[in-house]
Amino acid sequence: MSTLPPNFNPLNTRKKISTLTFRQKKERGEPIAVLTGYDYPTALALDQAGIDAILVGDSLGMVVLGYENTLPVTMEEMLHHCRAVARGARTALLIGDMPFMSYQVSKEDAVQNAGRFLQQGGMEAVKLEGGRERLDAIRAILGAGIPVMGHLGLTPQSVNLLGGFRPQGRTAIAAGRLLEDALLLEEAGCFSLVLESVPARLAEVISKRLAIPTIGIGAGAGCDGQVLVSHDILGLFDRFTPKFVRQYADLHTAMQTAFTSYIADVQNRNFPAQEHTVEMPDEEWEELIDKLEG
Ligand code: KIV
Repeated sequence: MSTLPPNFNPLNTRKKISTLTFRQKKERGEPIAVLTGYDYPTALALDQAGIDAILVGDSLGMVVLGYENTLPVTMEEMLHHCRAVARGARTALLIGDMPFMSYQVSKEDAVQNAGRFLQQGGMEAVKLEGGRERLDAIRAILGAGIPVMGHLGLTPQSVNLLGGFRPQGRTAIAAGRLLEDALLLEEAGCFSLVLESVPARLAEVISKRLAIPTIGIGAGAGCDGQVLVSHDILGLFDRFTPKFVRQYADLHTAMQTAFTSYIADVQNRNFPAQEHTVEMPDEEWEELIDKLEG
């Protein structure tokens, strides 16, 4: 058994985190820690560990459901996992990631689907990808009283348009456009902004220009907070580990060891042992067997 880190807070005595807390943390210069979560036990562990926000990301599609990318993920799949996370978390801000085609078609669709994340998924905010082309949808969702987190840079739902999962904002034109988009999202009312796979210096400039916190993933240390996919830091996603991930555990190997040991124990009759067995006092058993045998 490993020892718990000193900042572990099993009773979770922290105050509830809100979108306002995000803003206050930026003002105080305190980094914001965000991770993705997709189920009840992980949400419980994230919350007890003291995470600021749990993002139920549409990365769900790749790391939990085994899809090639995030495009096949549906509203129903997202809501199913959001509900599980909401049952496990108490203090973290809960953010639901709007899946492909749930906000791109019309602003009416966008509001309705964002509303489902709060009404049916137990979330407190939504995230959606894109810049100037999403302003109508973002304003409409905010108009319904739903906080929105933006997402710029490498936006995985546009993987086909971007020509793959590749870093963004590397030319003067692309960097300028990214900065403009960031300012537009802030002006529209987003409470925070994910910057994914953009040069660290650009992310730092954007973070300094915005009053809302930037949450980086592969965007360097100049962002106001960081987000990673939990399965990546736990060593649970087998296909690839992005360069910007620090792996904190190797749960895939831990699972394989546990499963292999269990199988061997069953095959060798080492499991179940006495302590896993329900026993009956002799007299009770004799009485029972007498009755059974008539
Ligand atoms: O879906 C996701 O997990 C995300 C984060 C990586 C930002 O969008």
